[in-house]
Amino acid sequence: MYNENGDVMLVNMKDILKSKTVFQFNINNLEWTKAILEEVNELKEPVILGASENAIKYMGGYKVVSQIVKSLIEELEIKVPVVLHLDHGKNIESCKKALEAGFTSVMIDASNYSLEENIKITKQVVELAQKYNASVEAEIGSINGSYTNINDAFKIVWETKIDALAPAVGNIHGIYKKKPKINYELIKEIKNKTNVPLVLHGGSNLPDEILKQLVESGINKININTDLQIAWARGIKKYLKSNKKEYDPRKILEPGSEEIKKIVKNKIAILPK
Ligand code: G3H
Ligand code: ZN
Repeated sequence: MYNENGDVMLVNMKDILKSKTVFQFNINNLEWTKAILEEVNELKEPVILGASENAIKYMGGYKVVSQIVKSLIEELEIKVPVVLHLDHGKNIESCKKALEAGFTSVMIDASNYSLEENIKITKQVVELAQKYNASVEAEIGSINGSYTNINDAFKIVWETKIDALAPAVGNIHGIYKKKPKINYELIKEIKNKTNVPLVLHGGSNLPDEILKQLVESGINKININTDLQIAWARGIKKYLKSNKKEYDPRKILEPGSEEIKKIVKNKIAILPK
């Protein structure tokens, strides 16, 4: 999307989460980002590109990530809405760096603090983000299989006026070692009480049926990183196994991008039409 001067414009999450559930696909390098953008453009679906602090450091910094995304949108003529979102921002400083670099959305993850402290920090980020017309996601409870208290969820939403909330509903990051015990009723209750878009962290390696039920229960954003990492590595390992002498990075990395595209396509296919 472009502004009146013809410059590439990223969007924030506020509007796109109102009308439908959108996946956040995390990015880890240039080829990976390109693969996601090409696939969502093909599918004509909006996307949230999530970048964690570690991924940003790995890619060279906030400005690098922002420029990569904006340049790809321009050069590849991406026509779908794209959000660039800081994933699990640990403090106000990280959020500020992201916003200054052109990110259109930030997550402030102060979930390891007390509720009061979490609210205090989140409030400051909301104030800051307003200056950039950016959206803010906050987390409450720990994404480790535990369950958020409904009143706490209401309190943080009410007091901070965040745009999205990531509650703990039995979800975990990374690989689920046991069958997940997602509390769908809790999701519905939090949704009813807060009336704010809800985010499901730890969306990888969940069967399609669970993902569909999450959407039905009121989840508006599902975060996927591990699935992409596994797929990327699988594609490259497979290629190298049968092409042991290959040293051209473009050829070695391409199968990783192809696997990323398949994941993006399969995940988006679970969304209601
Ligand atoms: O914030 C990122 C996501 O919650 C990643 O979850 O490990 O299930 O891909 P994942
Ligand atoms: Zn997460």
